[in-house]
Amino acid sequence: MMGADTPAHSLTGRTIAITGGAGFIGSRLAATLAPDNDVRVLDDLSTGTARNVPDEATLIEGDVRTSTPVAKALDSADIVFHEAANPSVSRSIDAPLESHSRNVDGTLSVLEAARAEDARVVTASSTAIYGTPETVPVAEDAALNPSSPYGLEKLTADRYTQLYNDLYDLPTVSLRYFNVYGPGQTGGDYSGVITIFLEQATADEPITVDGDGQQTRDFVHVDDVVRANIAAATTEATGEAFNVGTGTSVTITELAETIRELTDADSEIEYVDSRPGDVRHSRADLSKASRLLDYSPEIGLEEGLRTLLE
Ligand code: NAD
Ligand code: UD1
Repeated sequence: MMGADTPAHSLTGRTIAITGGAGFIGSRLAATLAPDNDVRVLDDLSTGTARNVPDEATLIEGDVRTSTPVAKALDSADIVFHEAANPSVSRSIDAPLESHSRNVDGTLSVLEAARAEDARVVTASSTAIYGTPETVPVAEDAALNPSSPYGLEKLTADRYTQLYNDLYDLPTVSLRYFNVYGPGQTGGDYSGVITIFLEQATADEPITVDGDGQQTRDFVHVDDVVRANIAAATTEATGEAFNVGTGTSVTITELAETIRELTDADSEIEYVDSRPGDVRHSRADLSKASRLLDYSPEIGLEEGLRTLLE
């Protein structure tokens, strides 16, 4: 097994564009790759911030839907990691037109620019494209029945990514992330549940669980997601989609209780209305990612939460 700090396959001396590189996942990837590669970050700073971008990387402030900044970021690029998107299911339900434009038009725009440069594209897809699967763990060939605009947008992006491989012979890979957490996830109402619960618990405020709390999620640490991206940048298995999770899941009530214990908080667990479009169960089958990407998660949830709190 690889050491926790050792990427599955390292990348050096490449020209790399990271869209959304001022956000949570993209900035972690940029920080890992910038010391040994020419890294350009393309970000409109809509949810990300410039201070997340490592000093060694070049920040191009612009929208992935606009051709000039995309062409500049991808000029002579070998690899594009496409992370820029609206990542929030709730926001896609509140503002579907804007979310669709960012997630679908944005992906198509990046794929077109990559086609002009013949650059490999690794696209951030999501488990949300499965909706609530018939059974868990869910494998890549399961039925795709998204239950939110976000899920449908990501399904379209995932499919466009594969189509560019098949139609234009552009090497592409889709990574279907499960629920990603770790240092640098932004706070606020539209943030991921772990960040919200940690903020509530450390302020001794009620921890707000949506619905009955029996919905399950497979929480994967951002450093495991970075390792999967680096493997996808060199794999021969292009034109494929891979799950990136841990293969284990917890209920949201269990998560709330664990966070309350780890933070030593006095917070009540408060049950509020369930979310429309919420996926009920989610857990990754990692057989394909293990076989073709040599991916296996290295950070368990409790360990990840402990290091986050340190
Ligand atoms: P994030 O909001 O922290 O990062 C997204 C970044 O993209 C931000 O810096 C934002 O400013 C930028 N951005 C948004 N629209 C843009 C546009 N039109 N042009 C240029 N930049 C733009 O979100 P994240 O959690 O880091 O998510 C990264 C990717 O991973 C997204 O594609 C998301 O859908 C996907 N994903 C995330 C998770 C998760 O649990 N966080 C799970 C599955 C998939
Ligand atoms: C998240 C990601 C999305 C990704 C998807 C994959 C974010 C913002 N969204 O969506 O990009 O594609 O995982 O599964 O990171 N919950 C509460 N209380 C809260 C907040 C949330 O109970 O205060 C519950 C939600 O109802 C849901 C679960 O926690 O059941 C997870 O919510 P959230 O972190 O928003 O993730 P997803 O909606 O799964």
